[in-house]
Amino acid sequence: MAILKTSALAKINISLDITGKRSDGYHELRMIMQSVSLCDDVIVETGTGKEIELRSNLRYLPNDRRNIAYAAAVLFFEDSGITNNGIKITLNKRIPVSAGLAGGSTDAAAVLRILNTAYENPYSKDELRSLSLKLGADVPFCISGGTALSEGIGEILTPLPPLPECHIVICKPPVNVSTPNVFSRVNLQKISLRPDTKGLLECISSRDISGVSRRLYNVLEEITGSDYPVIGEIKSTLISCGALGAVMSGSGPTVFGIFEDIESAEFAYSELNLQYCDCHIVKPSACVNVTTE
Ligand code: C5P
Repeated sequence: MAILKTSALAKINISLDITGKRSDGYHELRMIMQSVSLCDDVIVETGTGKEIELRSNLRYLPNDRRNIAYAAAVLFFEDSGITNNGIKITLNKRIPVSAGLAGGSTDAAAVLRILNTAYENPYSKDELRSLSLKLGADVPFCISGGTALSEGIGEILTPLPPLPECHIVICKPPVNVSTPNVFSRVNLQKISLRPDTKGLLECISSRDISGVSRRLYNVLEEITGSDYPVIGEIKSTLISCGALGAVMSGSGPTVFGIFEDIESAEFAYSELNLQYCDCHIVKPSACVNVTTE
């Protein structure tokens, strides 16, 4: 019996562009992704003798294959052919659910990283990323985290230098967004504004956080933001409290703003927290290793 743990970091989209649509309905994306310090704890106990058990601190989450963390364990054992002598997965969730922060994807990636460590690395990092794409488009990024350019449907990853030191205020309004619904309403011919990905890459390389913040852009914000004006309202609050820039993450509805100084970030947090309970101050982060108890 062994107990292994890791932190599963949330991600934000510094940018999100859509460059095409595939015949299977998935969209070709070009995104700059960043892991942040907001995280779930993922703990896996092996050798329990009871197939796969899953528990979380959120009662409404399914604890079977419908939970992507459970599906990750099923995939690991099926694909590797390793005999499962029983595992118990415990999720302590802090990342808001269905928020555009890859909360489910990062838990699934954490389960794969933990099981790969527990069974003495049957997969290389590249192989684990390829396998993880079967679970969802954001999972490969979550395997390594950090700062990366993500292309294809999310599986072509190019590591980037880390973002310069900054403070990020995240706020999820209390609305539910369906990612398939948002993507189904994308009209490629009608996208008039796109992120300046080249400019963003240059600003990241030159450690220019103001330049990065001025260029935050997500083409999906036009769709989700038109359904929920609260997204624009949160952006305005972040900017009026001193954010260098603000944008929606993923398919939404979470919005984040980048701040150079902690005082302004704390002020923005306290203003938003008067109205919204799901607010966090976070930092850009690199992926956290698996530890054994
Ligand atoms: O892969 P994942 O399950 O996270 O994606 C959820 C939904 O988002 C997909 O079913 C698809 O409708 C949409 N999507 C897309 N193109 C991508 C990623 C997701 O159309 N690259």
